[in-house]
Amino acid sequence: MTYECILTETRDKVGLITLNRPKAMNALNDQLMDELGLALKAFDKDENIHCIILTGSEKAFAAGADIAAMVGYSFMDAYKDDYITRNWETMRQIRKPVIAAVAGYALGGGCEVAMMCDFIIAAENAKFGQPEIKLGTLPGAGGTQRLPRAISKSKAMDMCLTARMMDVVEAERAGLVSRVVPLDKLMEEAFAAANVIASMSLPIIMMAKESVNRAYETTLSEGIQYERRLFQASFGTEDQKEGMQAFLEKRPAVFKNK
Ligand code: CAA
Repeated sequence: MTYECILTETRDKVGLITLNRPKAMNALNDQLMDELGLALKAFDKDENIHCIILTGSEKAFAAGADIAAMVGYSFMDAYKDDYITRNWETMRQIRKPVIAAVAGYALGGGCEVAMMCDFIIAAENAKFGQPEIKLGTLPGAGGTQRLPRAISKSKAMDMCLTARMMDVVEAERAGLVSRVVPLDKLMEEAFAAANVIASMSLPIIMMAKESVNRAYETTLSEGIQYERRLFQASFGTEDQKEGMQAFLEKRPAVFKNK
């Protein structure tokens, strides 16, 4: 598959997707989002890929939805024909882990896409923000929903209402990002994390992702029950036997992804 707005490559069991519209700060137009959805689904289906990394450039992960494309849209374009964000939730269908490796600006839809990923590793120059209010609109791809869950209502309101950007020190303190690394170490760190994940049992990794995500959708007791069922289900896998046996025999586990 040839893409125009993204680049894809594989390294061992890791699939890398790079947003690639440098002249527009990786603004997320329909074509880019279509291609991103296709690439994510292709990696998700590929048995050899166990973890996916999504990144942008050193200057911009993504500066948001494409303002030039959106400026003339009517309510009917946006609502009835569902332009702009119609395919943005594809990320939620991806069952393998997706790491966002963020450098530079992650603004508007860029911040929202980063938050759709399973966790964010950020370079020291990363900046996060929801500046839609300055454009006479509001976040439209989950910003008002995922930010309060990620960083608290107070900070989410502050970002959505004032449009101020958050630097990495604040973003890490607030829990938006899981790790901060020097810019020149960003991809090294992202691949190191992805390779660790890829060395585990894929079905168990998928169960763990599913269970953590459940925490966003349900009550604590329902979530605990859900986790318990998946934990119990893990005992039906060969990899649970191998993982525990290997620990007892003081050797590295060799998972078969079964
Ligand atoms: N859409 C379209 N084009 C964009 C863009 C965007 N979101 N962000 C940047 N660009 C373009 C600029 O228009 C410019 O193009 P030209 O060279 O042709 O003029 C090019 O990228 C470089 O941008 P700047 O000259 O502005 O670069 P800068 O370094 O001075 O500033 C920036 C960088 C702070 C990211 C600034 O470009 C900016 O504020 N961008 C817009 C951010 C924004 O408002 N994002 C929210 C979009 S709405 C949204 O995302 C809705 C949603 O929730 C789904």
